[in-house]
Amino acid sequence: MKKILITRRLLKSNEEKVLKIFKANLNSNDELYSQQKLIELSKGCDGILTSITDQINEETINRLPDTIKIISNFAVGFGNIDLQAAKKKDIAITNTPDVLTDATAEIAMLLILGAARRASEGIEYAKNSSWKWSADFLIGKQLTGARLGILGMGRVGRAVAKLAKAFGMIIHYHNRSKLSPELEQGAIYHDSIKSLFSVSDILSINCPATKDTINIINKDSLEYFPTGAIITNSARGDMIEDEAMINALNKKKIYALGLDVYKNEPKLNPGYLNMKNVFILPHIGSATKETRTAMANLAIDNLDEFFKTGNCRNKVN
Ligand code: GLV
Repeated sequence: MKKILITRRLLKSNEEKVLKIFKANLNSNDELYSQQKLIELSKGCDGILTSITDQINEETINRLPDTIKIISNFAVGFGNIDLQAAKKKDIAITNTPDVLTDATAEIAMLLILGAARRASEGIEYAKNSSWKWSADFLIGKQLTGARLGILGMGRVGRAVAKLAKAFGMIIHYHNRSKLSPELEQGAIYHDSIKSLFSVSDILSINCPATKDTINIINKDSLEYFPTGAIITNSARGDMIEDEAMINALNKKKIYALGLDVYKNEPKLNPGYLNMKNVFILPHIGSATKETRTAMANLAIDNLDEFFKTGNCRNKVN
């Protein structure tokens, strides 16, 4: 039986499944392992099931025991792992695509609605019982007929497009390449971010964090948006340059911001703390029971497939 290190506690049904297939080092206290501890605990193991909270950088990879042949990341994103260093050491890296698409798209819609309809302010007023109805109280922006720009038209981007259409939004997108009409479903392609941003009443960021997308929302690109645009991010915090965004919100160039992800999680840039027009969640895009269960099952299946066949359909390096 292969032996696996599992760096974070999984849902009970997932841990039961893993123990049927592998010998496993579980983390029942759900402690965040230091690099040193992770390396020590992986001794005698054949693979590791990691989560986005583990920073598997080049040094960590180089210090892992040679018995480790696969790192199965419990996430669709894998920016926490140095893919090239892993490839050099002949360690396969896998992720969990598809199963979290709908849950993440739902959170993207929550961000759009929360930002457009001033949910943060509304919650505060309601809790303080400090409000009085009037015709112009907490007027927000309506989604019907608004242009939604989707940055990154992969699985999640396309699922957001589908939901947003039901709200009557007009879908525009930018992607590394234009999609087939079948995948586009009527969405309008823009071959540059400048072109996309300039028609985005609302932008939903759904692209992966890569060297090309880090800080893609910055002082210069914020100028491309129509004044009063809304920006939401349910992908990775790296894409937004916070100081530029805070400035754009203060200047009312940007009307509102919706974030499920941000730089240096869990430490939010203090510049956002007192802003009424930001609607912020703590990276819960995939946090439903169905989705977290399916993600961990897939991460376990990826290990199993790799050990049985020497390969895995969700290998990303
Ligand atoms: C969540 O952020 C994921 O990448 O799965």
